[in-house]
Amino acid sequence: MDNRAIGVFDSGLGGLTAARAIRRLLPGENLVYFGDTARVPYGGRSRETLLKYAAQDVRFLRSFDLKAIVVACGTVSTTALGALQRDNDLPIIGVVDPACRRAAEVTKNCRIGLIATWASVRSGAYEARLRRLRPEVTVLGRACPLFVPLVENGRISRGDIVIETVAREYLLPLREQRIDTLILGCTHYPLLWDIISDVMGPGVTLVSAGEESAYELRHLLESRELLAQEDRKGKTAFYVSDRAEDFEQTASQFLQEDMRHAAKQINIEQY
Ligand code: DGL
Repeated sequence: MDNRAIGVFDSGLGGLTAARAIRRLLPGENLVYFGDTARVPYGGRSRETLLKYAAQDVRFLRSFDLKAIVVACGTVSTTALGALQRDNDLPIIGVVDPACRRAAEVTKNCRIGLIATWASVRSGAYEARLRRLRPEVTVLGRACPLFVPLVENGRISRGDIVIETVAREYLLPLREQRIDTLILGCTHYPLLWDIISDVMGPGVTLVSAGEESAYELRHLLESRELLAQEDRKGKTAFYVSDRAEDFEQTASQFLQEDMRHAAKQINIEQY
């Protein structure tokens, strides 16, 4: 048993898809969430910049006494996970492996779509993992760079003509490719779950990279006997690197809870 907290980070709001799933699956765990809202989006950045940002994010989180870290960001998971694991002496998991395992499990026609940031699509990490799991799969990848800024600006509701138009533009070509499974490989995208599933239709199973990481985390904590005491209610502390109010507003909508004054702003450049 281990009651220390788990660190979770992303460039912004996206990691909340992982945090929400962790809180449901492991309600006794304390979380420390960091969203790097001053530097979002990460998805168009170079590998060098991403390595630097990811190292700073982890250094900030490690100012707390943690037992594990979830890289709740597809972009960091595809480009910097190995470096983070090498440089840190605590378990660190990403979102690529768990999402690929689920997709490989659920696809029937072996045609899997992947939507993610430019950095993630370019890295080829999802595709390589899927091929190792099921060599016969065809992976159709597409970067959707406008999704993250729209999510960060709170454009996440059904009926919002801007996000619906952008979603159709990105997703209809994938739908025409007869995929039966779609990996939402950027953790921001599940905030658009309804909008994406409306475009893709009922024949396509959506896989949330953020959510799948919660199952991987549970497995890790169980196997290393790191689970928190069962009968307690865990707490989450939220930190961001830009105005807390902006984060709180969309986070309230997504988490369906009052997030006013729930987040604190920190200076990530100090780490
Ligand atoms: N949510 C992150 C991801 O999963 C980062 C998106 C971004 O900042 O561009 O890729």
